[in-house]
Amino acid sequence: MPTPHNNAEKGQIAKTVLMPGDPLRAKFIAENYLDSPVCYNEVRGMLGYTGTYKGVPVSVQGSGMGMPSIGIYSWELFNEYDVENIIRVGTAGSIADNVGLRDVIIGMSASTNSAYASQYRLPGTYAPTASWKLLSAAVKAAENKGSCFHVGNIFSSDTFYDDANSLAQWQKMGVLGIEMEAAALYMNAARAGKNALCILTVSDCPLKGLSTSAEERQTTFRDMMEIALETAVNV
Ligand code: HPA
Repeated sequence: MPTPHNNAEKGQIAKTVLMPGDPLRAKFIAENYLDSPVCYNEVRGMLGYTGTYKGVPVSVQGSGMGMPSIGIYSWELFNEYDVENIIRVGTAGSIADNVGLRDVIIGMSASTNSAYASQYRLPGTYAPTASWKLLSAAVKAAENKGSCFHVGNIFSSDTFYDDANSLAQWQKMGVLGIEMEAAALYMNAARAGKNALCILTVSDCPLKGLSTSAEERQTTFRDMMEIALETAVNV
């Protein structure tokens, strides 16, 4: 049955979903990588498609920006549409010194300044963590492609424009990069007993004042997409 945010009928969405933040990226992936893609959602322009990749059904669905937005879409996919695996594909700002522009980051865990975990009323601090099954498949895919990639802790921030300028402190803790969605995705997956992973392309280095052009983002995005798609067909 459709939800307030998704028009798909049950059964229209594959067990594994790739989730870019930008719905037009979802369209790009569907049109450039999937065979026989069918659009199942246009509510709020948050496009979702199902097709096949190497013969395996795969869906791709926009998440929007930030943890409240990916929180809604991923919760519905896990709990209303029987989705088992969500792989976020997005961009990140680098934090660690050795992470450069266009490198790929695979988020093993996601620190956050978000209050998303407070809903679970845990008597301590929760550590949002990727699913080993997806993480290990993604590492194999990245190795096979010969990509320049890093695996580790990322920082999911509630703010893009941050008054406190806290990146240097996260750097001291070995955090690789900053994005805005993974922690909520990992928590939704854990709560639903499902699997999630976040794969990122470094689009900017905020501490060094560097960024990629729109054209470069498109090319490097392809590397990450191929890692995510290989992961999707191997789990
Ligand atoms: N901050 C937050 N999210 C991001 C950034 C950033 O600098 N770059 C890409 N996603």
